[in-house]
Amino acid sequence: MPAISVPALLHALPDPVLLADGDGYVTDANPAARELLGAGVPGLHLRAVFRQPEVSAALDRVARDGGVAEADLLFSGESTDTRWRVTLYCPAGGGWVVSLRDVSEIVAAEAQRRDFVANVSHELRSPLTVLAGFIETLQGTAGADPDTRAEFLDIMAQEAARMTGLVADLLSLSRVENAQRIRPRDPVSPDAVVRATVAALRPQAEAAGVRVDLDLPADLPEVPGDHDQLVQVFCNLLENALKYGARGGRVEISGTQLAQVAGIDGPAVRIRVQDWGEGVDPVYIPRLTERFFRVDKARSRESGGTGLGLAIVKHIVARHRGRLVIRSQPGQGACFDVLLPLAPQG
Ligand SMILES: Nc1ncnc2c1ncn2[C@@H]1O[C@H](COP(=O)(O)OP(=O)(O)O)[C@@H](O)[C@H]1O
Ligand SMILES: [Mg+2]
Repeated sequence: MPAISVPALLHALPDPVLLADGDGYVTDANPAARELLGAGVPGLHLRAVFRQPEVSAALDRVARDGGVAEADLLFSGESTDTRWRVTLYCPAGGGWVVSLRDVSEIVAAEAQRRDFVANVSHELRSPLTVLAGFIETLQGTAGADPDTRAEFLDIMAQEAARMTGLVADLLSLSRVENAQRIRPRDPVSPDAVVRATVAALRPQAEAAGVRVDLDLPADLPEVPGDHDQLVQVFCNLLENALKYGARGGRVEISGTQLAQVAGIDGPAVRIRVQDWGEGVDPVYIPRLTERFFRVDKARSRESGGTGLGLAIVKHIVARHRGRLVIRSQPGQGACFDVLLPLAPQG
C-alpha cells in the first residue's frame, strides 16, 4: 500500500494547517488555511501571516526553545469576529507546522458561563443583604416593638420568597437544558394545557383586575410534547401578560392550526398570548429571552420577577422543535406566539 503523501494529508485536514521552512517561510497551506488566511499565504513569513503580538511572542519562544507553543488569535470579519487557537510546532529536524482551531464557540460559552455566575450571585446578594439588615435590626431594640417586628418580618418573608422563586427558576432552567436533546413525544392537548394554565393563574388575574379570554377551536389537534413543560411555558407568558399588560384589562389566549410555518416541517399549532398593556420597544425584543434580561429591572423585581421566565420559555419551545415569535409596540401591548410542530421534526 503506498504511503499517504504530506500534501494529501494536509488537504484532508479540516482545520487550517501551514508548513514553513526553517527560516519561517510558508511552503504549504491546506485549503482550509488558504480560505482563512488568503490564497497568497505560501511564500510569506509566518510573522507576516500572523501579525498579532501574542503569536509573534510564541514564535520567538519556539524558535529559541523548540517544542510547541499555543497562542490565541482574533480575526475580525465583516459581520462576526472569530477566535482561533494557533499551535506552533518546531520539530527537531527543523521547519514549522502551524495549525489553527476555531475556538469561537468555546470562548463564547465560557463568557456566557461567567456572566451567568455573576448574575446569579448578584441576584442572590441583594435579598440576602436586605435579610441580614433586618435580622440585625430586629436583634436590636427595634425588635421589641410588635408593629415594627410584624412589618419587618413581612419584608423578610418577601425577600425569602424572591430567593425561593429564583432558585426554582434556576432549577427548571437547568432541568430543561439537561433534557434539551430528548424530544418530548407524549400526545398533548393544547386546549388542556391552556386551561390548566388559566386555572393556575386565576388568583393573579383577579388580583390584577384582568379578564382572560380564550379562543380555542374545538378541533385543535394534539401535539407531541411534554404537558407539564408546556403548562410552564404558558404560565410564564400569561404571568407576564398579567404583570406587564395589566393596563389593557384583558389578555387573550387563542389557538390556530396552521398548514405551514417558516422553520417548521409540516403543519403546526399556534398558541398566541396577547395583551394590550404597555408593550416593549422592538429594539429589546431580541434580548427578552436572554437570561436575566429585563427592560425595567426594578419593576420586574418589585413584582417578584427573576428575568428567567422567557429564557425558560425559549428553551422549552426549542426542546419541542417549535418557535417563539414576539411582536410588540410601546403602548400597544405584546403578542407572544408559540408555534408547535404537529409531526416529529427530523
Ligand atoms: N407581556 C409583556 N409586555 C411587556 N413587556 C414584557 C412582557 N413580557 C415580558 N416582558 C419584558 O420582558 C422581560 C423578561 O421577562 P421574563 O423573562 O418573564 O422576566 P421577568 O418577568 O421575571 O422580569 C420583563 O422584565 C419585561 O421587561
Ligand atoms: Mg416573567
